[in-house]
Amino acid sequence: EKAGYEHFMMKEICEEPKAIKDTIGPRIKNGRVVLDDIELTEEYVKNIGKIHIVACGTAYHAGVIAKYIIEKTARIPVEVDVASEFRYRDPIVTDKDMAIIISQSGETLDTLFALREAKKKGARVLSIVNVVESTIARESDDVLYTWAGPEIAIASTKAYNAQLCALYLLTLELAYKRGCMSEEQYKNIIEGLQTIPDAIEDILGNKGAIQRFASSHCNVKNIFFIGRGLDYALSMEGSLKLKEVSYIHSEAYAGGELKHGTIALIEDGTLVVCPVTQDDLMDKMISNIKEVKARGATVLAIARESNEQVHKVADEVFTIPDVDPFIAPVAAVTPLQLFAYYMAVVKGCDVDKPRNLTKSVTVE
Ligand code: F6R
Repeated sequence: EKAGYEHFMMKEICEEPKAIKDTIGPRIKNGRVVLDDIELTEEYVKNIGKIHIVACGTAYHAGVIAKYIIEKTARIPVEVDVASEFRYRDPIVTDKDMAIIISQSGETLDTLFALREAKKKGARVLSIVNVVESTIARESDDVLYTWAGPEIAIASTKAYNAQLCALYLLTLELAYKRGCMSEEQYKNIIEGLQTIPDAIEDILGNKGAIQRFASSHCNVKNIFFIGRGLDYALSMEGSLKLKEVSYIHSEAYAGGELKHGTIALIEDGTLVVCPVTQDDLMDKMISNIKEVKARGATVLAIARESNEQVHKVADEVFTIPDVDPFIAPVAAVTPLQLFAYYMAVVKGCDVDKPRNLTKSVTVE
């Protein structure tokens, strides 16, 4: 079943290029996004008041990326909530709002109840789900399936990349129908998404470097992940993945927030992981890297090939191909998943079945 892989987690990370192709392939026709499985009329899209994205764990982290990209391009206000908070906080939702529910399994209890809450308040519900005909899929007005295939390892990997792809396609559709995106921008993003599977193949081909880095740093007690913009959202996912499979304590912070307290925890040898893929925030992140290094941190950066400045300041860089910064998270998450995987393997953890966790949380 593991097709020669030692663990499902590694098998599933290696399946990411296929998961992405299967999720975007059938939905791009002649250079245009065609979401014929859902109903998004121009009139409906133009009148959306607000979008509520609700999910748990990794799916929630995909939602945080979506907030950045939808607000930036489609200019619709987006709120992202973890489902267990949304369902009990009496959120302000109207019938002009759209709810986007994200779930790999389609069975997470809090997410399901959040869906019902949004629906009860009048929102139209679109879900992004991996398991066909799951409860969340059945109760939604529209479903945009991720075609990642079955995910067995408890830690979600390929489903996250596929969720992001579905969210990028949806964002393109929203932005285009609201007249907020130029033909050129639209075309660039579509073409960029089509290059991601090859970019991930490239990253997988260099996984030995990540394995070596993990072997020599597996005794650390604390790891900080810092990033800005999309890289902050990505940092949250990198930190969660590491915690759940390797049991190493870690936290994700927005780069600009460090000074407000957290930097007090940086000491000699503290490992700080920095995804740095956003060109417009590059200088700010370089300053953050210098700040933590001045206090003794060892910095591991995830950067695109052409970001030479990062190579100059970080102690170690996992390089990813030069994908467009706007879609970079889809590829940049892979080195973070591999990093978590190798840290867990080196520490002898049960990678596919971390303690205390189950694949789908169907109780409160
Ligand atoms: C993390 C992980 C969990 C799930 C969360 C939501 O690797 O697997 O955080 O992402 O329990 O599950 P779904 O997406 O099935 O609703």
